[in-house]
Amino acid sequence: MLEDTQLVWVRDATDGYIQGRITEIGSKEFEVTPIDRKFPKRTCHYDDIHSSCDGPQDHDDNCELMLLNEATFLDNLKTRYYKDKIYTYVANILIAVNPYREIKELYAPDTIKKYNGRSLGELPPHVFAIADKAIRDMRVYKLSQSIIVSGESGAGKTESTKYLLKYLCYSHDSAGPIETKILDANPVLEAFGNAKTTRNNNSSRFGKFIEVHYDGKCQVVGGYISHYLLEKSRICTQSAEERNYHVFYMLLAGAPQQLRDKLSLGKPDDYRYLSGCTQYFSNAKTEQLIPGTQKSTSHQKKGPLKDPIIDDYQHFQNLDKALGRLGLSESEKMSIYTLVAAVLHLGNITFEEIPDDVRGGCQVSEASEQSMTITSGLLGVDETELRTALVSRVMQSKGGGFKGTVIMVPLKIYEANNARDALAKAIYSRLFDRIVALINQSIPFQASNFYIGVLDIAGFEYFTVNSFEQFCINYCNEKLQKFFNDNILKNEQELYKREGLNVPEITFTDNQDIIELIEAKSSGIFTLLDEESKLPKPSPSHFTAEVHKSWANHYRLGLPRSSRLKAHRTLRDEEGFLVRHFAGAVCYNTEQFIEKNNDALHASLEGLVQECENPLLKQLFPSGSNTSVRGKLNFISVGSKFKTQLGELMEKLEQNGTNFIRCIKPNSKMVDRQFEGNLALAQLKCSGTISVLELMEHGFPSRVLFADLYSMYKSVLPPELVSLPARTFCEAMFQSLNLSAKDFKFGITKVFFRPGKFVEFDRIMRSDPENMLAIVAKVKKWLIRSRWVKSALGALCVIKLRNRIIFRNKCVLTAQRIARGFLARKQHRPRYQGIAKINKIRTNTLKTIEIANGLKMGRDEIVGGVNDIYRQIDDAINKIKVRSTKICICCQFANFTVSRLQQNPRITQREIDSMYTVVMANMNKLTVDLNNKLKEQQQAEEQERLRKIQEALEAERRAKEAEEQRLREDAENKRLKVEMETRRKLAEAQRLKQEEEDRRAALSLQAQLEKEAKDDAKYRQQLEQERRDHELALRLASESNGQVEDSPPVIRNGGLNDASPMGSNKLISFSQVVSNIASRYLNKSENVRAQQQALGKQKFDLSKWKYSELRDAINTSCDIELLEACRQEFHRRLKVYHAWKAKNRKRTTMDENERAPRSVMEAAFKQPPIVQPIQEIVAAQHRYFRIPFMRANAPDNTKRGLWYAHFDGQWIARQMELHADKPPILLVAGTDDMQMCELSLEETGLTRKRGAEILDHEFNREWERNGGKPYKSLGTKPNGAGI
Ligand SMILES: Nc1ncnc2c1ncn2[C@@H]1O[C@H](COP(=O)(O)OP(=O)(O)OP(=O)(O)O)[C@@H](O)[C@H]1O
Ligand SMILES: [Mg+2]
Repeated sequence: MLEDTQLVWVRDATDGYIQGRITEIGSKEFEVTPIDRKFPKRTCHYDDIHSSCDGPQDHDDNCELMLLNEATFLDNLKTRYYKDKIYTYVANILIAVNPYREIKELYAPDTIKKYNGRSLGELPPHVFAIADKAIRDMRVYKLSQSIIVSGESGAGKTESTKYLLKYLCYSHDSAGPIETKILDANPVLEAFGNAKTTRNNNSSRFGKFIEVHYDGKCQVVGGYISHYLLEKSRICTQSAEERNYHVFYMLLAGAPQQLRDKLSLGKPDDYRYLSGCTQYFSNAKTEQLIPGTQKSTSHQKKGPLKDPIIDDYQHFQNLDKALGRLGLSESEKMSIYTLVAAVLHLGNITFEEIPDDVRGGCQVSEASEQSMTITSGLLGVDETELRTALVSRVMQSKGGGFKGTVIMVPLKIYEANNARDALAKAIYSRLFDRIVALINQSIPFQASNFYIGVLDIAGFEYFTVNSFEQFCINYCNEKLQKFFNDNILKNEQELYKREGLNVPEITFTDNQDIIELIEAKSSGIFTLLDEESKLPKPSPSHFTAEVHKSWANHYRLGLPRSSRLKAHRTLRDEEGFLVRHFAGAVCYNTEQFIEKNNDALHASLEGLVQECENPLLKQLFPSGSNTSVRGKLNFISVGSKFKTQLGELMEKLEQNGTNFIRCIKPNSKMVDRQFEGNLALAQLKCSGTISVLELMEHGFPSRVLFADLYSMYKSVLPPELVSLPARTFCEAMFQSLNLSAKDFKFGITKVFFRPGKFVEFDRIMRSDPENMLAIVAKVKKWLIRSRWVKSALGALCVIKLRNRIIFRNKCVLTAQRIARGFLARKQHRPRYQGIAKINKIRTNTLKTIEIANGLKMGRDEIVGGVNDIYRQIDDAINKIKVRSTKICICCQFANFTVSRLQQNPRITQREIDSMYTVVMANMNKLTVDLNNKLKEQQQAEEQERLRKIQEALEAERRAKEAEEQRLREDAENKRLKVEMETRRKLAEAQRLKQEEEDRRAALSLQAQLEKEAKDDAKYRQQLEQERRDHELALRLASESNGQVEDSPPVIRNGGLNDASPMGSNKLISFSQVVSNIASRYLNKSENVRAQQQALGKQKFDLSKWKYSELRDAINTSCDIELLEACRQEFHRRLKVYHAWKAKNRKRTTMDENERAPRSVMEAAFKQPPIVQPIQEIVAAQHRYFRIPFMRANAPDNTKRGLWYAHFDGQWIARQMELHADKPPILLVAGTDDMQMCELSLEETGLTRKRGAEILDHEFNREWERNGGKPYKSLGTKPNGAGI
């Protein structure tokens, strides 16, 4: 059992998620023991386990949940559902769970009033809040709005649409005549377009987009209804337990006797077209009002069908009144009922073979003669003509006269049946179009400024047999899903990037490839279908084969045998195809695709109804619109009509502001107070709301331009704030209102709010005047403070600049002084050295005079000679000085010119030397004279003196030579330094080049890693898609008592790149695909992969060992290799567990539970996975480390602490944290593993940290000082030897 018994949510096939506690960390997954003992223990991948809060959660907006994950999201919905709070938000998207019962006062007029003008989030979530937001957005942004209501069949789209319309029409007090007309449209549309299915008693079998138009003052001025794709096949056949359109039953149950007589109506089981189900919906009261003769046998046996909102008898009365209110006269109503009845009677006409007819023709069966007569009467056509048109087809031969010869081709029985059904479908569907047109005509319409459109269209559909209708509906849902992805997920993330908000990106599955598959111009399924219809002999199998051929190897398209549902596998390859939709895989049976794609009647039938006497029918088939004469090549198919309609709808949606309502069906039994978690979870995933939740973990759903925010509150602000620029105003308001900084963010043009925070801001801004005064005071204070801070910062900058200028000035002067000194010295060195040399001669002459003074004869002569030498010396010095001064002056003045320099050239070294030599020569001559004289007087003594003088002169010469030698050496040194510098620069350049190369290599590595990450995401999406396909198949199987196979025999490969497991051209099994994807994902998702490889090489397989067994082995085993293997596996699991915990941590406790200083964890995170060679581990060493750390959330004086770690080999043995403000934390491996650093020594990077390693006695001293017990090695002795 683990010490850390945190409460978690774990995946469950029925409830979605259940609560439990982690009891085992396995090699690839965790073992969880559910809290509720009725559930068995389970082992799950950690992606299927999420953290749970202790108490129940109940939040209006799911983004406010403490832990944002799909499990808490689901739990919040469930908790609220049982409290009758059926609505919640995910940011601005409304989630509506169908309560299947009336909730008191939820939609009362008072509630409508309450929501009027209130921001989203101010009041509990509601459809009214979304409607009100749409109205306000329309008014503020001057932009039409759309509300997209989506969900699967029975999720509550139509009901929500009704409430939305009620709000949109009633929001301004009561409804006027236009509003009443819009609201009246609903019962009429539902009567003709809704039917009971196994999923919904009141299922809309068509899509609609209802526009409520407004003028500039936001008053309703009109309305318009567009409808899409009525399910025509239902008119002729229905599945078991399903009914035809309500209107047939309403007419049979509720029509007054007089009308019944006129239309020759009987009871439901009299009609073949009502064979799916013949029971009426009625309540106790109306059941009494319907005479027994009007009830079917089945109704009388089983009793009526029950639904709180459907009653066939009552609804006929309502329909009649509603048609009246829409402006239809009694005769117009009568002609509508007539056509409805005619369809019923038409369905009863059957055919039989004509005996002995060689052409294989057929005739109307005798039993249906009466129906034939009634039908022709009701349709206003000649009975014989109808009979002929039903059993034969007119054909025109190509040759023979202007139009060719008309030939009557007899029809076979099945062809005649088809012709009859085609006629019934054409009459009913055109009648439906007409009724919508009548409703639109009845709503007075003046010019409008904007509109709010509500889209209620069938959700994603899947049955055991899926045909063209499901294909069209699912195509539409793909388009809407794409719109949702682009509008909410893609655009939202792009906006965050543009505004520089730094919100982490999330990935989502882009379904563009499925849309391409269906609607691509050249080879999309719709195009292939149209092409097929134009062939002389179109065939479903050829069409299907073409689809498979054109999209071979496309991941989204498969063969029927790749379906997970057994029932689909019986279809042959050319009988259908499987499309992997965003919500799961659907297998389509293509048998009737070609017929259903062409709704044209054959020429004789069309001609007949065009010429009929029933005025309404005549209007429905105006002559000249003959579809059959247009010919095969020009026909407009149902598919292409729908594609065009959908294109127009998408265009509208793209131009408008959008609001989303996601309806959720809580159970498939259609009962109240029952929440099937898994069903709801699948719907949440498909609707994209879980991705939005993920995005909103860091996202900002509300945003407003600075300028808009400013003008929004301009009117309520005092003059001193009104004068502020928009951005300053926003900053001032936000900073001074004490809103938490994490609740809003400033972008470049807008301010963004976390979920629900704009409401808070709005509430404060619109509070009472007293509060406003306080806000104004705060803003003023903030403004003064921020301006003061700005000016203080400005002053500091100026001072800094001044000091810098002074400093630079000083530096310039110093540089100038040194340079000038250097230049002057260099320039004048020969002169002053020459002067010094010459002056030395003067010194020598003094000695000559001294000697001469000792002469008795010829002294004056010598003195005179000395004086001459003095003069010569002075002259020479003067000459040197004068020349140098002139040049110096010249150099100093800017107007120095070359010509002056030429007039006054610098004295050269040679000139100085020659002057010196001349003086010296004279001096020598004098000395010779003196010598001669002294020779005569004191020969011996004088000679000695002369020798000394000569010696002195010699020494001077040597000194001069030495000086010259030194100067030469200086010059040589200088040269060497220059060479060295050049070499260094070269080396530096090479280093930079090397760095550049390294950088490029790193970039390409990075690109490779990113590519791998992308591939990973793709695999993950496929895995999710497989899971959805499986869940969908399970649901269908449970509804239809079908069977799902765990692994279908084969699926065709996908269109991924060749490296992917789905990309090769082989047929591979499903389980192989899943396991390939899963193992690839698993291996790549964590750096465990490398260690798994290492483990793979070892002789122990520890993957089946329990966590506690591993720990026991570490504590007790004497087998060193086993011990080391256990330690590695044990720490690997810890790492996986901590990684999961980090992903699932609570948003408020970011910095708790850190097992090592952040720097260590980050270093480990950055570096590539490290594989521990086993030899190195066996020769384990004890190493000790100490590093300082900072706690981000602690007060300043207690922030710092010291972290000590003792590693026994590669794994931590002891760990100690020293804090300033709390007792030391001492942890020992084997006891406290969950709180200790799980990284290996190499991964921590501690060995590479300068100054981190310490000596063992330093660690132990600190350990013992803080009360730690002496260390006992787990498997190895402290000196590294094994036990
Ligand atoms: N808000 C609600 N309050 C009470 N009951 C509701 C509500 N929404 C839906 N229901 C119940 O659920 C039934 C199915 O709802 P609805 O017809 O709106 O589903 P739908 O999503 O339009 O399905 P379909 O796609 O088949 O048309 C309704 O007949 C009604 O009984
Ligand atoms: Mg509906």
